[in-house]
Amino acid sequence: MNVVLVSGARPNFMKIAPIHRALAGRPRFRSFLLHTGQHYDDVMSLRFFRDLGLEKPDADLEVGSLSHAAQTGAVLTRFDRFLDTHPTDLVLVVGDVNSTLACALTAVKRGILVAHVEAGLRSFDRRMPEEINRVLTDAVAHILFITEESAAENLRREGIPDERVHFVGNVMVDTLLANRERALKIDPVVPLPKGPYALVTLHRPSNVDREEDLMRAVAILEETSSRLPVLFPVHPRTAAALERTGLRGRLERADGVALLPPLGYLDFLRLFLGAAVLLTDSGGIQEESTALGIPCVTLRENTERPITVEEGTNEVCGLDREKILGVVDGVLAGRGKGGRVPALWDGRAAERIASVLEGLF
Ligand code: UD1
Repeated sequence: MNVVLVSGARPNFMKIAPIHRALAGRPRFRSFLLHTGQHYDDVMSLRFFRDLGLEKPDADLEVGSLSHAAQTGAVLTRFDRFLDTHPTDLVLVVGDVNSTLACALTAVKRGILVAHVEAGLRSFDRRMPEEINRVLTDAVAHILFITEESAAENLRREGIPDERVHFVGNVMVDTLLANRERALKIDPVVPLPKGPYALVTLHRPSNVDREEDLMRAVAILEETSSRLPVLFPVHPRTAAALERTGLRGRLERADGVALLPPLGYLDFLRLFLGAAVLLTDSGGIQEESTALGIPCVTLRENTERPITVEEGTNEVCGLDREKILGVVDGVLAGRGKGGRVPALWDGRAAERIASVLEGLF
């Protein structure tokens, strides 16, 4: 079987890596690594291939940054052209970025089977571009791999037959567990603070695109940094917004804040493993915090990953200053939220995916 593994943006690469490895171990499959080029800076894309021991992508559609419509459209037409010359039996997409939806849609219209890894997650917030991508990708996918039981319920509600849905665990955790020891052996990109520190990531349009939201976030980070050092690798979208609004200077002047460039997988994991608390609006980091047992403050109004709250270390706080600082103070007082690692987040999700695919074909 010819399987095309699609990756397009930063959060895809760590999900594709273990699946690529699991399929490589099974002679039935020949897999092809496709990069759409949605993310193109070295540190947002190829750096991850190197960090994760993945070979370079076999092809790159080089779509780059465009409006949602133009980017999705560019992937649709370029992937369609790619499929003209590459006989494909199955297209496997991960996550919820524009490339996920575009490749799923292209394939399904050509009568090619589509598998979606990380299916069924729902924030129920249609203002989030990712929520639209999730709902639409699941509506056309033939095989849906889920990370938590809430996803099965969501898919059932949307009329997707149970036979299509496979609970396999979390491929992101596969990568996390496989790289933890490696990350501990590297030198951190900045000297680590002696005591507890917070690690921050922020890039959602809902937090950074409007000046008033970004200003609230910056004020909260300033206050957090008066309690403990804050390490903040800044996403390109956020870097541009901080420049545009002149807010970068405020963070630079805050004594406890270290602004860092975007980091590769291992460099970020190195900082993650020593952090006392995460402040983030990322989806994946909510899961990684739960898998590592590190308290996580989600700077969003909702999460599509409820198990990280119900069983894990996550607390959804939006940009509510009191709530966020309350969690940070709790962590510093030794009352950080504990939790347990959810079912099947055990480092073997990609092997389960490969086994399901082998069983189906
Ligand atoms: C995309 C995903 C989001 C994911 C995030 C992780 C969608 C709808 N969004 O959002 O789900 O969480 O990736 O990063 O697919 N830029 C660079 N270099 C790059 C890529 C982007 O400098 O390699 C800059 C560009 O100025 C661009 C901005 O970052 O305009 C935002 O990038 P874009 O891909 O539009 O969206 P993300 O916010 O990264």
